[in-house]
Amino acid sequence: MAATQADTQTTAPARQVAARAVNVTTTFGRGETRVVALNDVSVEIEQGRFTAIMGPSGSGKSTLMHSMAGLDTIDSGEVWIGDVELTGLKEKALTQVRRDRLGFVFQSFNLIPTLTALENILLPLAIAGRTPDQAWVDRIIDTTGLRPRLAHRPNELSGGQQQRVACARALAGRPEIIFADEPTGNLDSKASEEILTFLGHAVRDDGQTIVMVTHEPSAAAHTDRVLFLADGRIVDEMVDPTAESVLDRLKAFDLVQVG
Ligand SMILES: Nc1ncnc2c1ncn2[C@@H]1O[C@H](COP(=O)(O)OP(=O)(O)OP(=O)(O)O)[C@@H](O)[C@H]1O
Ligand SMILES: [Mg+2]
Repeated sequence: MAATQADTQTTAPARQVAARAVNVTTTFGRGETRVVALNDVSVEIEQGRFTAIMGPSGSGKSTLMHSMAGLDTIDSGEVWIGDVELTGLKEKALTQVRRDRLGFVFQSFNLIPTLTALENILLPLAIAGRTPDQAWVDRIIDTTGLRPRLAHRPNELSGGQQQRVACARALAGRPEIIFADEPTGNLDSKASEEILTFLGHAVRDDGQTIVMVTHEPSAAAHTDRVLFLADGRIVDEMVDPTAESVLDRLKAFDLVQVG
C-alpha cells in the first residue's frame, strides 16, 4: 500500500549535517591590531539545504566560510565536514578533503590568470583526476551564459563574467558542499536571478548543499535558511525567508548597509 504524505513526513529521517562549526573562534593580528573575526560560533549546515549568511561588512561572513572549508586556521573550536573533523588534519589530508568534497566561490574569484575560462572551470576536476560530466558542465556553462567567453583568460573577462567562471568552477565537480562568498555580488539582477535559480535547483533537484554569503534580501529569498552574523557572532536565524522578511529582520537589527 502506498504511504500517504503524512506517513512519509513522520517517518522521514532527520537530515544529515553536512558541515559543522563548534565554538569556533578566529582572530587576526596581535596586540592593538588584534581582530576577533569569529567569536565562539557554533552552527550546523544541513545536507541538501541552501543556507544564506548575512551581516554587515566586517561581521565575519567570509571568515566563517573560510574556517568551515578549512581554508583559514582557527584559534579554537572544531570544524567538521560530514563525519571528518578538519581541525587537526594534516595539510595533505585537509587538501584532499577540500579537493574531493568542497567547492568554493571566493569573494575575489581567485581564477588562474594563465588559464582560459573553460580551463579554470575544469581545473578542480583535472587536479582530482576526474572526468567531467559533459552534460552537467554544458548545463552550467549555458546557465552562466559563458559559452561565448570560454576561450578567454580572466583579464579579458568582465568582473561579472569572472564571477560566473568562479561559480561554474565550484559547481562543475558536484562537490558535497559549495561555499559561495557573494557569488552574485558583481552581477546585474537578471544574471543574478538566473544563477540563484540554478543554485536553488541544484539544491532541490540534485540534493546539493550550498552555503552562500549575500547582502541582498532578494538573493537570500532563494535559500531555505538565513544566518545573521554581527561582530563575529551568529545573532539570529530565519527559515523559509522572503525578501521582505529578511529586509525587516536586517532593519530590526540595524544591519542594513548604507550605500
Ligand atoms: N587576513 C586578515 N588579516 C587581518 N584581519 C582580517 C583578515 N581577514 C579578515 N580580517 C578582519 O576580520 C573581520 C571579519 O572579516 P570578514 O572578511 O570575515 O568580513 P565579512 O563579513 O566577510 O565582510 P564583507 O561583507 O566586507 O566581505 C574584519 O574586521 C576584517 O578586517
Ligand atoms: Mg566577505
